[in-house]
Amino acid sequence: MSTEQWPPPHPYDTLLALKAEAEKFEGGIVDLSIGRPCDPPPAALIEAAATSNLERGYPPSIGIAPLREAAGNWMARRFDVHVDPTNIAACVGTKEFVASLAGLLKLRTPERDTVLFPAIAYPTYAMSATLAGLRAVPVPLDENWCIDLSQIDPADAARALCLWINTPGNPAGGMDDLGAAAEWGRSNNVPVFSDECYIEFTFSGEPRSILHHGQDGVIAVHSLSKRSNFAGGRVGFYAGDAELVHYLSECRKHTGMLVPGPAQAAAVAAFNDDEHVVAQRQIYLDRMKRLVELLAKMGLPAELPGGAFYLWVDAPDGAMALVERLAKEVGMIVSPGTFYGPDGENHIRIAAVEPAEKIDLLFERLG
Ligand SMILES: Cc1ncc(COP(=O)(O)O)c(C=O)c1O
Repeated sequence: MSTEQWPPPHPYDTLLALKAEAEKFEGGIVDLSIGRPCDPPPAALIEAAATSNLERGYPPSIGIAPLREAAGNWMARRFDVHVDPTNIAACVGTKEFVASLAGLLKLRTPERDTVLFPAIAYPTYAMSATLAGLRAVPVPLDENWCIDLSQIDPADAARALCLWINTPGNPAGGMDDLGAAAEWGRSNNVPVFSDECYIEFTFSGEPRSILHHGQDGVIAVHSLSKRSNFAGGRVGFYAGDAELVHYLSECRKHTGMLVPGPAQAAAVAAFNDDEHVVAQRQIYLDRMKRLVELLAKMGLPAELPGGAFYLWVDAPDGAMALVERLAKEVGMIVSPGTFYGPDGENHIRIAAVEPAEKIDLLFERLG
């Protein structure tokens, strides 16, 4: 990240000029840049928010008991992961949790100063370190876009406040060995935070949680933004190591991190229902298949990911050149791989987040 401008521009703001250009196409822009869900959340969720009667008082920062129970039941039902609700706490969507984590861990372990994260990843892991004046140290990925733990310098491990891992991975859909990550964390005495917000959109094998490998020293982070198309509700949770959950939830109470009451009630309804997620999984898969077809027509080979809803596509002439080509040729806006770290310079990320009609438009524009 450049140190010339503080704060740096938000990555997506750098696409505004290209978006204006894409908007000129008849039918408008097809925006496949931000991973923002376009499908509706389930009706039961909206109904629960409207009738919660939780508007008046301050909601508990850790989440109301029914929310923590519903989150625990969901993990047990879907993934055979069993966490006591006392070791589960709410967050206001997971971005704020990720962004604020490094500073809180630094206060707990002042002699350490480093955040480890995958070299191609959701940018907020590194930003968390930057915002706290700490070191952000990327860990290289292997040829399957999985974190290569063997490449962590022992000197960095000794300084690490935490290791972030993200499976299925944004942007490249990598499927990490979470057991190896948990073991690495325990043997190096580094807490491992596993961002599992795409767990329901696992297409290769069974869904993976770090909590399949015990709870000591590890935390799983989950979100309803993608699972239930509820990014606007801002509900997520973190669960696992009892001492870490307790420490973080006590700190977060002081900073006023509270999920609004009606959103908490909606989250209970969301976690209690799996049917809408089954439908959503198929929608993303169908969209990604169509996008792969479209790209093939444009001479751009692409493969379906092991999970999540992004295509990670080769851009041999540079990410930005391909981003511009797609905007100008078909009015499609995508993200340059550099949004996810310098190692992404020869890739773009395409998010399957526009409805089928919009993807049809892209085929029409190709002629
Ligand atoms: C890997 C990853 N983690 C976390 C988030 C944050 O999601 P939210 O703050 O909506 O829970 C995103 C959003 O795109 C993401 O891709």
